[in-house]
Amino acid sequence: MYDKNLLQSNGDSKNCEIPIGRYFVSDRIPIFGDALEMWIFTTFATSKTVNIMPRKKKPFSKDTKFAELLTDDRRLLQLLPRFGIGLGFGDRNVDQVCQMNQVNTDLFLMICEIYSDNNYKPGQNELQHIDMGDLLSYLKASHQYYLDERFPHIEEHLQRIIKACGQKYGPMLSHFYDEYKQEVMRHIKYYEEEVVFPYIEALLNGKRTDSYKIDEFEHNHTNIQDTLDDMMNILLKYLPGDILPKERIEISYDIMELSDDLNRHSIIEERILIPNVESLENTQP
Ligand SMILES: [Fe+2]
Ligand SMILES: [Fe+2]
Repeated sequence: MYDKNLLQSNGDSKNCEIPIGRYFVSDRIPIFGDALEMWIFTTFATSKTVNIMPRKKKPFSKDTKFAELLTDDRRLLQLLPRFGIGLGFGDRNVDQVCQMNQVNTDLFLMICEIYSDNNYKPGQNELQHIDMGDLLSYLKASHQYYLDERFPHIEEHLQRIIKACGQKYGPMLSHFYDEYKQEVMRHIKYYEEEVVFPYIEALLNGKRTDSYKIDEFEHNHTNIQDTLDDMMNILLKYLPGDILPKERIEISYDIMELSDDLNRHSIIEERILIPNVESLENTQP
């Protein structure tokens, strides 16, 4: 959907103004007006997946050189700290590097595929080899990375833009972001980490409960990246062109990367975590 190179072009948006009408159209997404609402709807209603990199040619395997994996798809670099994989892997292959770092190779390869192939969906056979404890550790490390590193970084850019916007647009932008941050916290901290993951951990320890089932998570799982995309469009399209244009291009890069990452994260939860927990629920007495 996005072509980063297009962001470099210097369109004349000096006279652009946020169409201020209604402040919110729902309790979830703050909206600045009907024109923006329609634009967001037509832009995002048909495509949820942000595809930044081209699809790779062949599936990765245990024998693939680790360095080759990263040159094939540079987004895989961001997975290394979440798995605790250090640099300096030399010419080793994927399996050797995973073993050196006590990482489950099957899980690592499966997550690499989800990042690199939009159509990848692991089969039941592959899912059986996944260690749920390792998967939960990976998901928690990803949450921590988003909350401790990516969002604060975006906030730093945003604070400077809000300040430069002054009273006309600053408070609205600030309110939009605060609402979004609360939505992220509800999704990641207060639901997944305080309800869903403890439920799965209890299940893994043989403790069953009838008060909660994973299909509740399946039905309630929302896309937290969509609002982030909305925010990028406000920054690019509706703020006057002379307000910190370079900073707005920089923050847009960051938002695109984070949005894609959050999208892949949701896919991991939906295509690996949920089916495995369903199997656990069905096999335990
Ligand atoms: Fe999550
Ligand atoms: Fe999630």
